[in-house]
Amino acid sequence: MKNKFKPILAQQLKQWLPALSHHQLSQHRFAIASTLLGDPNLLAWSNLGFWHNTSDYQVACAQLAQQVGLAAGLQANDHVLDLGCGQGASLLYWTKQFGIGHLSAFEIQPACIARIQAANLPQLDGIYQAAFDQLPLPDQRLNHAFDAIVCVDAAYHAHFSDFLAVNMAALKPQGRIAFTTLSKSNDWPQASLLNQTLTLKLLNLAYVPAQNLLKNDEIRTTLQQAGFTDIRLQVLDAEVFTGFARYIQQLDPPEILTVAAKADWLKIKMTARLCAFLAKQGLVHYVLVSARLV
Ligand SMILES: C[S@@+](CC[C@H](N)C(=O)[O-])C[C@H]1O[C@@H](n2cnc3c(N)ncnc32)[C@H](O)[C@@H]1O
Repeated sequence: MKNKFKPILAQQLKQWLPALSHHQLSQHRFAIASTLLGDPNLLAWSNLGFWHNTSDYQVACAQLAQQVGLAAGLQANDHVLDLGCGQGASLLYWTKQFGIGHLSAFEIQPACIARIQAANLPQLDGIYQAAFDQLPLPDQRLNHAFDAIVCVDAAYHAHFSDFLAVNMAALKPQGRIAFTTLSKSNDWPQASLLNQTLTLKLLNLAYVPAQNLLKNDEIRTTLQQAGFTDIRLQVLDAEVFTGFARYIQQLDPPEILTVAAKADWLKIKMTARLCAFLAKQGLVHYVLVSARLV
């Protein structure tokens, strides 16, 4: 880790850890304070963003979704499943930008489900409080029901094989998938044990089971073996890791009044530092993956 990070991180942790642990007890571990990030909407974004020619959080998040939607080749008549849809901004985005009329979504946080239900999207056929890495699917009518499955900035929270199994259960023959995830870079084996351990520990703190991260070649082979073709992987480290880290660095800290807001802000700062660290180390990539079932 870059030396200057250590004392600052330690100082902040010491100051805010009691507040954080108290707040985390009442919050879902995946909860993200989108308003602090720059999205106060009911159906808010909570992804890392694709920071190309923008310094606006909502635009960057929509751009990341756009990358995923284009990679999945979304068509207006597709039945689409969105995995880990968060507070639902992507659901609105698929309807507006790709004209999708039949959408379903999985999300694990009850608070997100409540927001999405409150928005009453006419194109939403079903919103399930369900894990995208656990079979069986929450409703048997979802088996092989989807032309395309998309997942924006969430798949790295699961083991790849479990995530893939859910995708395969839900996908129609010749269906397409597109998702962003993390992968180990080709430099990983040469990295010192200390750097490897530190990277894994930091990712674990962000609820990424990083011990099982695959390399890009391994993702490709796993998809081939599962019967996928047209497999594409694009590394987006600069646009995502560096972009998010820079955005948070220049963001004025909000006027923090409550313990909860302090904890939320700390979580955001830590995520940005982790992104900066990953971009600098080059041991873990942010990748966009797309493929089609044969
Ligand atoms: C970084 S957020 C991205 C949210 C949304 N896709 C977006 O672009 O704004 C990751 C989301 O994945 C959800 N998530 C994590 N693990 C999950 C799982 N196993 N099953 C379903 N959702 C999960 C989290 O609750 C969180 O809402």
